[in-house]
Amino acid sequence: MSSNLSSKPNHPSSGTRGKVEIQGVSRHYPGAEKPAMLDVNLTIEPGEFVVIVGPSGCGKSTLLSMVAGLAKPDKGQVFLDGKLIKSPGPDRAMVFQEHGLFPWLTVTQNVEFGLKMAGVPPDQRREASRKALDLVHLSEHTEKFIHQLSGGMKQRVAIARCLVMDPAVLLMDEPFAALDAQTRTMLHEQMQELYVEMKKTVIFVTHSVAEAVRLADRIIVMHANPGRVRRDFRLNLPHPRDFDASDVAYYMKTVRKEIDDEVNAHAGASRRVSEGVGSYEI
Ligand SMILES: Nc1ncnc2c1ncn2[C@@H]1O[C@H](COP(=O)(O)OP(=O)(O)OP(=O)(O)O)[C@@H](O)[C@H]1O
Ligand SMILES: [Mg+2]
Repeated sequence: MSSNLSSKPNHPSSGTRGKVEIQGVSRHYPGAEKPAMLDVNLTIEPGEFVVIVGPSGCGKSTLLSMVAGLAKPDKGQVFLDGKLIKSPGPDRAMVFQEHGLFPWLTVTQNVEFGLKMAGVPPDQRREASRKALDLVHLSEHTEKFIHQLSGGMKQRVAIARCLVMDPAVLLMDEPFAALDAQTRTMLHEQMQELYVEMKKTVIFVTHSVAEAVRLADRIIVMHANPGRVRRDFRLNLPHPRDFDASDVAYYMKTVRKEIDDEVNAHAGASRRVSEGVGSYEI
């Protein structure tokens, strides 16, 4: 795979699409003891790669669902490019841990499915799917069925299926969590490459600090019970990132400590959890 990312800008010039504003959002699921999200405020700029981390149950998936328009806030509002999000729309696409592809369709047919539903003519669909599959390095596998692909290839088809719709925002909920370490590393490289190419806002949820530090422009660490923003780190580091470099190691350590402190705080440990939102920049 060719990638000379270090020569490219860390923040792609993304144009004007893809600004996400989460304003005072709370969500309390019926029957739950505490709110899944409480008064969350977050502004994500067009083209930013934001990774959300935090302990299980801190509201990461809930936050993505709000942006996707799959769940509604009890309080507050979410805007995309100044427009209130009320329901799902083609300007937002979601990639889940489970790829959710149709096994009875080929790779190309899966990628074209959304366009077909939208009434896009076959020649335009074919051109769009060809480009998207090229971006995720699957040009050689377009006529295969899903069961003929590896786990990493399936996730790449799922990403291509989103890209083909040309969303302003790509929402990714632990998309690589089920994959082995080697495949993940390869997908991280491709994700960075893709990010530089596509210039879209990405909101990416993971449990892996290494994944977060590898990919993010910005890492949001969340509190649990109720879900809130705990820390907001801005990483002004070039790609690809060398894990032996001191600034990368600094973020690995600091973000991991934030999560450990959060988990320990809930486990009743004596470590003190500082309240509020901090912002770190180097
Ligand atoms: N449909 C639902 N009904 C009731 N409670 C829910 C529902 N969905 C989520 N919750 C609760 O809301 C809280 C936040 O859940 P959410 O799935 O957003 O967390 P998460 O950070 O994505 O967790 P994980 O890392 O395990 O995926 C949890 O306490 C969860 O039990
Ligand atoms: Mg989740």
